Amino acid sequence: MTLSMQEQVLALFLGQDEEYVSGELMSQRLGISRTAVWKQIKKLEALGYEFEAVTKLGYRLKYTPDSLETLDISSKLQQHRLGHEVHVYAEVSSTQEVAKELAEKGAREGTVVLAEQQTKGRGRLGRAWHSPYGKGLYMSVILRPTTPLHLAPQLTLITAVALSSAVRKLTGLPIGIKWPNDLLFEGKKISGIILESTAEDNMLKYVIAGIGIAVNLIEQDYETELLEKATSLRISAGKSFAREKLLCLFLDEWALLLDMYEQDGFKSIIPLWEAQSVSIGKKVQLTTPLDTFVATPIKLTETGALLVKLDDGSERTIFSAQMGEVN
Ligand code: BTN
Repeated sequence: MTLSMQEQVLALFLGQDEEYVSGELMSQRLGISRTAVWKQIKKLEALGYEFEAVTKLGYRLKYTPDSLETLDISSKLQQHRLGHEVHVYAEVSSTQEVAKELAEKGAREGTVVLAEQQTKGRGRLGRAWHSPYGKGLYMSVILRPTTPLHLAPQLTLITAVALSSAVRKLTGLPIGIKWPNDLLFEGKKISGIILESTAEDNMLKYVIAGIGIAVNLIEQDYETELLEKATSLRISAGKSFAREKLLCLFLDEWALLLDMYEQDGFKSIIPLWEAQSVSIGKKVQLTTPLDTFVATPIKLTETGALLVKLDDGSERTIFSAQMGEVN
């Protein structure tokens, strides 16, 4: 079997116990120039490997990313609803697109699309989702709920509860949910959820739930501007996490909540969401398509809207808005 140049470079680091390997040695062993060695290192970095380069000593392999290529979660899941059909890609524009195509072709509920990297990862409100190779969980899951279209936001809130619970279980970090569905650690965003629905006769036909979690990104993986408001589990906890484990925990938690929702209705989800929310009781600025105002969120309503209290004592029910800090 012939190894690619990338694999040959990596092989030189194996068994080095995080010791330095000089550029000179690599160049001799591989029969390529020092510049070619450097280019290979850069290519590996683009795949999530992290090196430390020290003058005169060479390179030290600091971090090897876990791979989704060999993912096999079916036997590890505790339920049969979600995650038993998984499609893994090295690179896609957006997993949302791939999942939508599969849904149109009739893919079953719970089908998961994962990618190591997205070139056009999308977030809510037309924003982009930063998706560097091998460091995050970028997934889209097909749901086929029996929910009327106007109650679709409830599914977003359920997804946030499941994700927050799974992240808490895995990391022990006190993750909070910012309404409606951002997960925050110490005020910085760690994960985002987008639900894209297709409906027929006012009933949901299918929903593509897009979930992005910044799992193993380090500060160098972010633009300075983004780092002010975003963080990762690795930065927050000071250690990396197996993406497969997080995926299984999340899918199991989510399937449990979806079953509960179908049996007992949204009222069974409300206390779970409220218990993990960082938005309740904290004065915020809300921007709806019509206006911007300051209010304090009080609770979720039975439909999944947010009930807020204004300074003049009046109450308002918010279905969709952008929530920001009070200036
Ligand atoms: C947000 O907070 O704005 C939502 C972010 C959702 C990002 C995920 S990553 C996987 C899936 N594919 C996408 O293009 N977007 C979602």
